[in-house]
Amino acid sequence: MSTPNPYDELPYRSFPIEWTAPERLALASLLHGGPRQPLDSYRVLELGCGDGANLLPMAYYRRHASFVGVDGARSQIDVAKSGKSASKLSNIEFIHSDFRTADHHLDGNFDYIIAHGIFSWVPHDVRDALLQLCAKRLRRGGLLYLNYNTKPGWNVRGMVREFLLAQTAGMTKLPIRAQQAQEVAAKVVSSLTVGEHPYSQLMVNEFQFVCDNHVSYVAHEYLASDNHPYWRSEFMALAQHHGLEYVADADFNYSSGQISDDIVPQLVEQQITGRSLDDTVDFLCYRQLHTPILTRSPLTRCPPSIEEFSNLLVASCLTACEQSGTQNSMFQHPSGYQVEAKEEVIRTALEKLQPLWPRGLRIDRVFPDVRHVMDDLKLLHRNGLIELRCTEPSDLEFHHDRLKRWEVECGDYMTTPYHTLEAVSASVADESTMSYPFPVAGGVQA
Ligand SMILES: C[S@@+](CC[C@H](N)C(=O)[O-])C[C@H]1O[C@@H](n2cnc3c(N)ncnc32)[C@H](O)[C@@H]1O
Repeated sequence: MSTPNPYDELPYRSFPIEWTAPERLALASLLHGGPRQPLDSYRVLELGCGDGANLLPMAYYRRHASFVGVDGARSQIDVAKSGKSASKLSNIEFIHSDFRTADHHLDGNFDYIIAHGIFSWVPHDVRDALLQLCAKRLRRGGLLYLNYNTKPGWNVRGMVREFLLAQTAGMTKLPIRAQQAQEVAAKVVSSLTVGEHPYSQLMVNEFQFVCDNHVSYVAHEYLASDNHPYWRSEFMALAQHHGLEYVADADFNYSSGQISDDIVPQLVEQQITGRSLDDTVDFLCYRQLHTPILTRSPLTRCPPSIEEFSNLLVASCLTACEQSGTQNSMFQHPSGYQVEAKEEVIRTALEKLQPLWPRGLRIDRVFPDVRHVMDDLKLLHRNGLIELRCTEPSDLEFHHDRLKRWEVECGDYMTTPYHTLEAVSASVADESTMSYPFPVAGGVQA
C-alpha cells in the first residue's frame, strides 16, 4: 500500500498572505530598485496553492489579471475548484500536479510566481525541480516570491520539532500525531516555570506557539518528514545556481528579525561578518523565516525616480493623539505604536489621510515637495505605520458576497480587496497572526 499524501491525509489550513499580492510585490521591487512590473494586465502562477485560499481572493479582486494554481494534493485542488465555482471566476485555473511534472501542464511565462510554505517543506529533489520550473516560467523582469525557514533562528523551532517527532513516533495517523503533539506541548507549557530563566521563557513561547496554531500547521511544520532550514547565504547560492537574483524581502515588517539600522555598519567596522554579513545579521536578530523576492539574473538596480515615487499612493490609519502644550504631534497606530510628527507637512498629511482609510491618495496630491518627505515616508512604510501602494483596488461592480460566503463557510474569515485578512471570529485572527506574524516594530520619528 502506498503512503498517503500527507496533505490529503490532513489538508493544510491556508489563509491569504497579504504580502504576496502582486501589487505589493511590485511595490517592494520598485522601492528596492528592482524591475518594474505591469499592473494593468498580468499573469500569476502559484505553486503549492493548497485549497486556493491565497489565489482565489487575488483573482476575485483583480479581474484584469489571470491566475494559475498548482498543487499535488487532490483533495486541496478539489476544494480550490469548488471555491472557483462558488465565486463564479473565469480568470483562474487550478491544476493537480506534482511540481516535478507541472511544466507539461503550463503554457507561456508568468509575471509573478508565488510559492509560500514550499521551499523548506519539500525534499531536496523537489526543491530543485521547483527552482528550475520557476526560472523557466518566470518572464524576464518578472518577480518570484518564495519563503523559507531560516538558520540559525529556526533551529530553536527545529529542537521542538525533534522533541515532538520523538513524542509521536509510535503513531501512524498524521491527525492523531498532530493532536498528540499539541497535548504534549500544553503539558510542557504548564510544567515550565516562566520567568525562572530566559531559556525556559523561550521554550514556553515555542511550545505555546504549538498549542495556539491550527492542528494542520502543527502536523506539517513539526511532524512532516521534510523541513529544512537554510542559511541566507545557502539560499542565495541555490537561487543563483538557477539564474535567480535577490530583489527584496516581501514581509519587511516581520516581527522577529528586526534590528536597528545602526548594527550593520557597526558589524562592518568591527569586521564581525561571520560566514556572511547577512547570515550574521540573521543570527543576531533571531530571524526564523525569510520571504525573498527574486528575479532572473542579471539585475541592474535603479532606485525609484522622484516621478515614480510621486505617482505612488499613500494611505494611513494613524490617528492624532490628544495632547496639550508645545509638544510635537503624536499619532497612534491601531497596534498601539505611537509616532511623532516633527514636521508640519507630515502632521497635516496624516490628519488628511486618516478619515479616508483604507483608501489612499497620490503622494504628490498630499505633499507639495515630494523629495523632502521621501525618506520619512519610506521609513514609516517600512515600519508598517503607513502604507505606500502602487495602485488602489478598482471600484468593484460585481458581487463581493460570493467570495465572502465561501470564505466564511470554509475558514471563518474574509479577504479584503487589499488582500488583508478580516477575521470573522477571534480564534481565526489568533491563528492567522500566530502563523504569519505581522506586527509593527521599530522606533519611528517622522
Ligand atoms: C505547507 S502547504 C502550503 C500551502 C499554501 N501555499 C499556504 O502557504 O498556505 C504545502 C503545499 O504544497 C503542496 N505540495 C507539497 N509538495 C508538493 C509537490 N511535490 N508537488 C506539488 N505540490 C506539492 C502540498 O500539497 C500543500 O498544499
